[in-house]
Amino acid sequence: MENKRESWGSNLGFIMAAVGSAVGLGNIWGFPYKMGKCGGFTFLIIYILLAVFVGMIIMVSELALGRKSGRGAVGAYQKVSKRFKWVGWLSIIAPFLIMSFYAVLGGYCFQYMSLNLAELGFGLSEIFGQNISGADTFNSMLGNQFGCAMFTFLFMIICMLIVKGGVSAGIEKFNKIGMPALFVMLIVVIIRALTLPNAVEGLKFMFVPGYAVKAGFIPEAPDVVSVLGTAGGQMFFSLSLAMGAMITYGSYLDKKENIVRNSGVIVFSDTLVALMAGLAVIPAAVANGINSGVPVGEIALGGPKLLFVTLQDVFSNMGASGPLFGVIFYLLVIIAAISSAISLMEAVGVYFMDKAETKGKTGMRTKVTLWVSAAILAEAIVVSIDGLGSNGVWIPFQNLLGKSNWNGTWLDFMDCWSEGIAMPLAAMLMSLMIGWELKPDYMLEEVHFGAASRVFDVFYKICIRFVVPVAMAFVLAGQLNEFFNNGSQTVHYVLAFVILAVFWIIAATGNKKTEK
Ligand code: PFF
Repeated sequence: MENKRESWGSNLGFIMAAVGSAVGLGNIWGFPYKMGKCGGFTFLIIYILLAVFVGMIIMVSELALGRKSGRGAVGAYQKVSKRFKWVGWLSIIAPFLIMSFYAVLGGYCFQYMSLNLAELGFGLSEIFGQNISGADTFNSMLGNQFGCAMFTFLFMIICMLIVKGGVSAGIEKFNKIGMPALFVMLIVVIIRALTLPNAVEGLKFMFVPGYAVKAGFIPEAPDVVSVLGTAGGQMFFSLSLAMGAMITYGSYLDKKENIVRNSGVIVFSDTLVALMAGLAVIPAAVANGINSGVPVGEIALGGPKLLFVTLQDVFSNMGASGPLFGVIFYLLVIIAAISSAISLMEAVGVYFMDKAETKGKTGMRTKVTLWVSAAILAEAIVVSIDGLGSNGVWIPFQNLLGKSNWNGTWLDFMDCWSEGIAMPLAAMLMSLMIGWELKPDYMLEEVHFGAASRVFDVFYKICIRFVVPVAMAFVLAGQLNEFFNNGSQTVHYVLAFVILAVFWIIAATGNKKTEK
């Protein structure tokens, strides 16, 4: 085998894979609910501003860093920086921890798809004489630890087979079929959802500022600073940033490809799908709640309950066509989850493959993928038998930093360390490293291989040096507020800005590493 790094088959293939990574569970259950809760269009505007001034900048930086170094996160940071060479580790721990629950949730989707398929084929509810309601299904599923572990296993096997196939023949191929299929299925579900009676209430929840409070969906509107934190955290997770995935995907990208344009396409597509997912799920959930007499404040519109309780109720109350839409819907969520999960797995596995490559060994993909999958499966089994806290598996550090918001669930615990801490920290440190240690021109040089634009260069320099670091301090504080409630939020702001100041000084006083 020749000693050459794997690469994408085409630029379109790369875009599909990157959009596949970005479009995931975060779009379907995070974005629409947060948008409604945080004032509809107000949230959307803040989200778009953050996506343009911060998300886009980090996306370009990650793709460029990956392509320049030809390495995954750990190797990339080690190659370019003296003072931040350890940051890559944050971007390998985060995807590893995220996978612990992503795989479990993917497994849940398989169970729900099977359930709807069985209803479609054999009329399960006829046999048992009752509707397959969301709450009953959810509770019995969580109680069945063995079943959940087996479906987690199934999800992991599928992801493993794709990643094992390689960058072009595995990951790219899956996304090239999966992404268009997902898009079509989403449109089918949107049409059905918007034609349900009372669907307009859900649209109002999503788009009309203040409606969520007025109608009683939430008790009070969040303040502007916390909206900023929520939108920032959501944007990062949704765009798959600061978790090594985009650095890794960038490392397989051809020098002639236009990184800025590609980043724009990825950011735009991810936001579009998040809005479309909102149109598919929120109006249906709200309409069904109202039509079945559930008080609006009790309709679960966010988190696992949205997917596995509220929406299952939508399908089981829909009449004869319900199970069919159930199958289509859960299948599309499975595709979204797999396409994201494989990027997380690749972001972890690339570390070992890079290491072997530097020693002149190639052809390690199969072995590495097997080991990474086994390690992820081990941690995912813990999350799966915990059953979102309903089975009470013991969790360490419950009282760290005052009272944690983990609510006794392993899912939140893993999410806290990855999405809550590692992710905003890694993005903050990356911007300081590029902006102040390496200097923006170092990265722009790589960007210019594909295309050069003076306007973008100026925009990039200002954002990476000033806008992104400060925004990241707010996002970090926002995430700490969300995960730790030790009485005062001021502590979190102080902590985040002290971290920013310390690393800013470290970056600004460092000398650029002389390369190679
Ligand atoms: N972007 C994915 C989502 O919205 O669900 C999650 C994700 C995938 C985060 C890959 C990070 C990552 F590297």
